Amino acid sequence: MKILYLLILIAIPTWGWTPLRSLCSGLYCKLSLENRKLDYYSPATNIVHLELSSCQDSDLKTVLLTPRLRWLTVLHCEGNFSTTHLEAPPNLDILRLRLGNVTDLPILANISKLEKLDLRRNNIVQLANKTFQGLTNLRELNLQDNLIRELPEKVFHPLKKLLYLDLSRNQISQLSETFLPRDIEMIELNLRENPLTKLEFAIFVHPKSIDFIDLTNCQEMRGQLSLPFKIYTLNLEFSGVESTHTFWLAELKAANSKVNDMSMMPHLKVLDLRGTNLTWLRANEILRRYITLEIVDLSNNFIRFIPSEDHQSVWPTFKKLNLSRNGLWDLPVNCPLFGVQLTSLDVSYNRLNRIDMATFEGAYDLESLFLQGNQLCNFEYRSEKLYNLKELAVYDNDFDGSYCREMEGYFGNSSLILHRSSRGYACLKPEEN
Ligand SMILES: *[C@@H]1O[C@H](CO)[C@@H](O)[C@H](O)[C@H]1NC(C)=O
Ligand SMILES: *[C@@H]1O[C@H](CO)[C@@H](O)[C@H](O)[C@H]1NC(C)=O
Ligand SMILES: *[C@@H]1O[C@H](CO)[C@@H](O)[C@H](O)[C@H]1NC(C)=O
Ligand SMILES: *[C@@H]1O[C@H](CO)[C@@H](O)[C@H](O)[C@H]1NC(C)=O
Ligand SMILES: *[C@@H]1O[C@H](CO)[C@@H](O)[C@H](O)[C@H]1NC(C)=O
Ligand SMILES: *[C@@H]1O[C@H](CO)[C@@H](O)[C@H](O)[C@H]1NC(C)=O
Ligand SMILES: *[C@@H]1O[C@H](CO)[C@@H](O)[C@H](O)[C@H]1NC(C)=O
Repeated sequence: MKILYLLILIAIPTWGWTPLRSLCSGLYCKLSLENRKLDYYSPATNIVHLELSSCQDSDLKTVLLTPRLRWLTVLHCEGNFSTTHLEAPPNLDILRLRLGNVTDLPILANISKLEKLDLRRNNIVQLANKTFQGLTNLRELNLQDNLIRELPEKVFHPLKKLLYLDLSRNQISQLSETFLPRDIEMIELNLRENPLTKLEFAIFVHPKSIDFIDLTNCQEMRGQLSLPFKIYTLNLEFSGVESTHTFWLAELKAANSKVNDMSMMPHLKVLDLRGTNLTWLRANEILRRYITLEIVDLSNNFIRFIPSEDHQSVWPTFKKLNLSRNGLWDLPVNCPLFGVQLTSLDVSYNRLNRIDMATFEGAYDLESLFLQGNQLCNFEYRSEKLYNLKELAVYDNDFDGSYCREMEGYFGNSSLILHRSSRGYACLKPEEN
């Protein structure tokens, strides 16, 4: 009996035409179409979410059977889709086509309600001019991980409501100055890991705002980047951009980049310049220009020495400052860098062999202090200047065993978090026990 049942199960698909509804009775249907012939005369009005895999280009007409479909996912299909029209159900709002090795996209017609189109991880080399025509409600478009070299100049112009556009990890070397619709307000434009040489926008045909632009690893970019519209976060990590002037910018992430000139950014709050070969001279010049700065990461640079007080200038009041891995051998006393707003200071993995508590004279609100990986033999951990401290790291210094025991005991009774090294000790190394 069991064998007969199995035989029937195996045989049904090859016998002939199977109604879709007999394969899926619920709202959600996941189906591999390998060797299966569907009966295209009996609709399945129950299905709202359909996931098809291992199909042929002709199988896309399955969607004709599902008038109530809202989500469609198509994975690993074979065929040449360049002439396939996908006439989708009227209420479709999410469409994912991860077709496999397909280079030509089906033509997407009459899916004006579509909000999300996911074409990531195909082998798309080029897009036709009219690929997105009619997708006027699209909010999110994923084209990452394809082989796109060029984009037709106006291919995105119908997408006036687009919020997210992901073109990362393609082969795009040039973008037209008008590739985005005029006055569009986007949340994210992701261009990371493309051989892009520049990004420019025409004076009168540019977006109104893009909250976040990611140009990480666009190593071929050179020279100046200026974006004439509102943008809050710009990621230039590992890019070749040398200078940037972006008036509304609040966050500049330029770690390991070639950025060495920044100006006219009066709203800048967060600045990440890790690994940019900065010396104090250069860092000083940059930081003083940005009185609005709050969070600054200068780790992995060459800041060996910070001079003490300098009455002549106004300093920004940092909240978080990272000076880890710089080769610093002393901290300045009375330096406005460590001011009233400072809550977190990381000076780990430098060459500090002493810390004068006067450094923290003005830093009443210091809550996090990272001192690990220096050459300290002692420091005034009982100082009242550290009363507000909530976390502290001191491992991998030169404290001796009894000093460590004393300090660990002192903090052991407090609510302060004493961080531990990856090998598990807070100060006293296991072999010194
Ligand atoms: C797909 O078909 C079109 C038209 O028949 C043709 O121009 C194109 O080269 C084909 N693409 C592939 C990858 O075979
Ligand atoms: C895509 O092509 C690669 C190599 O050409 C092959 O190994 C892989 O199986 C193909 N994938 C699909 C889904 O056809
Ligand atoms: C879109 O739908 C309309 C009406 O249903 C039809 O006339 C038109 O041909 C369709 N467009 C395409 C490109 O298929
Ligand atoms: C696409 O549009 C451009 C101009 O925007 C035009 O030069 C080109 O011929 C068009 N290509 C096709 C295939 O329609
Ligand atoms: C920093 O300097 C090193 C050695 O001169 C160089 O190889 C590296 O590219 C520089 N890094 C940056 C981000 O300029
Ligand atoms: C400071 O920078 C170092 C190196 O870039 C990083 O490992 C560390 O987590 C940062 N510290 C803080 C407090 O974020
Ligand atoms: C920590 O608390 C224990 C018991 O509550 C007490 O015996 C010990 O003296 C305290 N240590 C310090 C350093 O205050």
